[in-house]
Amino acid sequence: MKSKIIEYLKENKEKLVTGTEIANILSITRSYVSKIVSMLVQEGYSIEIINRSGYIYHNDLKVISLNKILNNVHNENRYHFTILEKVDSTNAYLKEKNNSKSDQIEVAIANEQTNGIGRLSRSFISNKGKGIYMSFLYHPKVNLDIAKRITACVSVGVARAIDKICKTSTKIKWVNDIYLNNKKICGILSVGSTNLELNSLDYIIVGIGINLYSQKFPPELKDIATSIYDETKNTVDRSILISEILNEVFNLLDNLETNEFILEYRSKSLVIGKTVELQSLLQKEIVKVIDIDDDGELIVEKDGIVKKVYSGEISRMRLNYE
Ligand code: BTN
Repeated sequence: MKSKIIEYLKENKEKLVTGTEIANILSITRSYVSKIVSMLVQEGYSIEIINRSGYIYHNDLKVISLNKILNNVHNENRYHFTILEKVDSTNAYLKEKNNSKSDQIEVAIANEQTNGIGRLSRSFISNKGKGIYMSFLYHPKVNLDIAKRITACVSVGVARAIDKICKTSTKIKWVNDIYLNNKKICGILSVGSTNLELNSLDYIIVGIGINLYSQKFPPELKDIATSIYDETKNTVDRSILISEILNEVFNLLDNLETNEFILEYRSKSLVIGKTVELQSLLQKEIVKVIDIDDDGELIVEKDGIVKKVYSGEISRMRLNYE
């Protein structure tokens, strides 16, 4: 019944349709129509409710639609998708579900996370219907030296997809935060399981969180986080952006050995040439970022001494130190 109502509303896009009209056509009661329309609005359909009895259908841009994703993702058979209304964390979900025998890339996407996890055990705000909260699990067929590029590589793929679909010009804050107009719109968290005997990764779970639509951030994040909508005033189609992220990310990951992504990683860098504060377990220091090397590590200078900084040792980087 739900799909019949959606179909009817879509056929009459941008026109006023009454509850009585739908009820008569589908031989159901008006109150049942009203109940289903409320559910559709909850799912993200943009339907205006006029005087509690008439409806105007606008679009389904905010709905996560498996059909739309399958129609837009390349090589759809590579993936197995799970779409969840609510989950603690899509990363945790895939870790638990991990079926290491599967050759398919497992993708979990949630409309809401109750315990979204960020890097260094921080939390990631994952309000219902406001963003993209997705993770994928796959088995990289490269050795550990190459695999350590994955995080930086994914951030280039995600930034490319956002720029293409949202018509933006994003930047990447080392290691893998994506920024728009100097505020964070996306964070990426990768967790892998190492096979030391084979010098490779058994699997890696990469979680991507994007602030897509307007939302209220807590006071401590107000000045550092934003959403794509707040910066562009465009309502982006969630399913199309999800498909494009997979297309761009796997296009690059399939060629990880060629390191093709690193030039773009550098050119999109928000930190090269800047003076930043780096905080590690042992100390806080102010350094100048000279470059990013081929493995995505930072090359910094302090008091005339040039050194390499590994992402694993830094717990925080603060910009605007000039
Ligand atoms: C960060 O900014 O520190 C990384 C944030 C990563 C958030 C994503 S949302 C989907 C996936 N599930 C999680 O619990 N975390 C990642």
